[in-house]
Amino acid sequence: MTVPDSIETSTLTQLRQAATEAAQHAYAPYSSFRVGAALLLDTGDIVSGCNVENASFGLTICAERSAMVQAVARFGPKVRVQAVVVTNLNRAASSPCGACRQFLAEFASADTPVFFPDAAGETMQTIAALLPFGFSSDSL
Ligand code: THU
Repeated sequence: MTVPDSIETSTLTQLRQAATEAAQHAYAPYSSFRVGAALLLDTGDIVSGCNVENASFGLTICAERSAMVQAVARFGPKVRVQAVVVTNLNRAASSPCGACRQFLAEFASADTPVFFPDAAGETMQTIAALLPFGFSSDSL
């Protein structure tokens, strides 16, 4: 995995830690799949979130969207995401779901790196690679 030069190793370590700490707060009584996500904002701030499930199942919010909503709530509508780290406490390979890819893309750039667990440990893909042909405000 090649980490972009824009992301310092120590920052990546902090992001992984923030994501893992957030995962410990997950509300996942139905799946027991505990996910955490940490966002590096262009201000250097780090914001994290966890998945929050619901008895209706469909209302469940993933860790990535939870973190993104938290970032906007704390820093306002102009937030931009420089990097994303997703972890889970289940030692499972797991990439962001389609809804989260679309949601993150709203506040990220095509080349924003997203780190997530794979079979070998961790991998990285850009937003553009994760969401080819995503819908954007350009179409409106
Ligand atoms: N989940 C996430 O938080 N992020 C993802 O990218 C995939 C899935 C959560 C939703 C649900 O609470 C649990 O993982 C099982 O799907």
